[in-house]
Formats: sequence, structure tokens, C-alpha cells
Amino acid sequence: MDVVLRAEDIHKSYGKTKVLKGISFEVGRGETKVICGPSGAGKSTLLRCLNLLTRPDKGRVWLEDVELTSPSVNINKMRQRIGFVFQEFNLFNHLTALDNVMIGLTKVKKLPKDEARRIAKEALLTVHITEDLWNKYPAQLSGGQKQRVAIARALAMDPVIILYDEPTSALDPHLIGEVLEVMKELARRKVTGLVVTHEIGFALSVADEIMFMYNGKIVERGPPKEVVFNPKHEVTARFFKRISELYGGRK
Ligand SMILES: Nc1ncnc2c1ncn2[C@@H]1O[C@H](COP(=O)(O)OP(=O)(O)OP(=O)(O)O)[C@@H](O)[C@H]1O
Ligand SMILES: [Mg+2]
Repeated sequence: MDVVLRAEDIHKSYGKTKVLKGISFEVGRGETKVICGPSGAGKSTLLRCLNLLTRPDKGRVWLEDVELTSPSVNINKMRQRIGFVFQEFNLFNHLTALDNVMIGLTKVKKLPKDEARRIAKEALLTVHITEDLWNKYPAQLSGGQKQRVAIARALAMDPVIILYDEPTSALDPHLIGEVLEVMKELARRKVTGLVVTHEIGFALSVADEIMFMYNGKIVERGPPKEVVFNPKHEVTARFFKRISELYGGRK
């Protein structure tokens, strides 16, 4: 297995509150792994620790063969290689869809405009944002379109891995499907992903593993079908029972 992201014994506290209590896992190249768990489990904190937006108190993170937690690493440079897709899109409201995708390529990667434009258009087409939308501003796009632009922006940077933090939970129910469909296509194309989501249909159809987090720990992990339909722990069982009651059988 060609491991591209490795977390080893990650701990993080805020004051006296221990939010992460020793998290370890790996993501291999081309894999899609799903993290789920109840609110407050530490999922967002974990994602932020992986690209050092939040610095772990203890533990180490590697991206390919570089230890990100090493003091000598240029973290800004390494962060360019990790895509991040947020619940709230985080697009620049004063830039068009196309410019939102281009800006990292021109400002961060310093590519010439023509090349940046070509790569950005290709990324937008990959997420099914067609030419008629390229010059629209975020305010003129639906939530599903905005999130797909955000995914294109991550993808255009040719990241080693894309981290997604509940990418569909701010969307109206009828827009969730189009975003999940794009994420499934990327998973099938072997774009490496680590996805915090409660969309069990997504996990069942494309994830290589589900990691279930509770109270700062991964309490259960394994193939999606096993974790969802045959959970070993009481908390996991309760969680999936509740999720299926809330979301029904959404694919
Ligand atoms: N910057 C911070 N300062 C203090 N406490 C924090 C901070 N960030 C997170 N926490 C606390 O850490 C715990 C875990 O938060 P986190 O956002 O990681 O959970 P989560 O699993 O992502 O939850 P949700 O499903 O609601 O997004 C919570 O108790 C939260 O209040
Ligand atoms: Mg969160």
C-alpha cells in the first residue's frame, strides 16, 4: 500500500477539554476513507490537525514521505498539496467561479494565466460546472453549484489528498445528490479523499473504510458494510440507527 497520509497518535486539548485522545490511521493512494461520529466527537479538529491549521499537542502527521509535524517543514508549502473542502464553501464572493478556481494556480502555484485558465476549466468541467456558469459570482450560484466550484478549486491544485468536512450538510436536501455524485466520481477516479460525512449511502458505495469517532477516539473502523450493518460497539450501533431514521435510505 502506497500510504499518502499517515496520522500517528494525535492528541489535542482545548484548556482542560481533551478533544483528540490518540488518533492513528493511514490513507493509501487512491483510497476514499470516511469519518463519521456524533457532534463534538472531534472530527473537524482532527481534519484541521492533519494540515496543521490546528497544531496537535502530541503525535505526528506525514504527507507522503514528509513529516508535516516536523519543526523544519515549510508548512505553507506542504499545505498546497492538501485540498480542503468546507461545509460553508469558503469561496471568494468578489470572484467569479472561474477566478475562484484560478486564483490558487496563479497566486500560489505562480502558473501563467493561460495555463491556470486551462486547468481551472478542466476542473470545473470535471465537477459538471458548465461554461455558462464560469463567469457567475458565488451569490448567483446554488449551494450545490458553489460546493462543486469549491471541489474544483481543490482539485485544480492537483492535491495529494482532498479533506472534506461535512461538504453536504449546509445544502438543501435536493442539492445534496449532485455534490455526492461528483464526490463519488472522484472516488471512482481514485482521487484520494478523507471525508467527514454522515451520508451513509456515499460511504457504502465508494468508501474503502469507515472510521467511527466518539469522544476523541476512533472507537470502530472497518469496511463500510460491516461498520454500518454489523457494528461492534453500542455507540456505533446507536449512531447508525439514528442516522438511518433521520436520512432514510438516501443513496
Ligand atoms: N478552537 C476551539 N476552542 C475550544 N474548544 C474547541 C475549539 N474547537 C473545537 N473545540 C471543542 O472540541 C470539541 C470537538 O469539536 P469538533 O468541532 O472537532 O467536533 P465535530 O466532531 O467536528 O462536531 P460537529 O459534528 O458538530 O461538526 C467540541 O467540544 C468543541 O467545543
Ligand atoms: Mg465538525
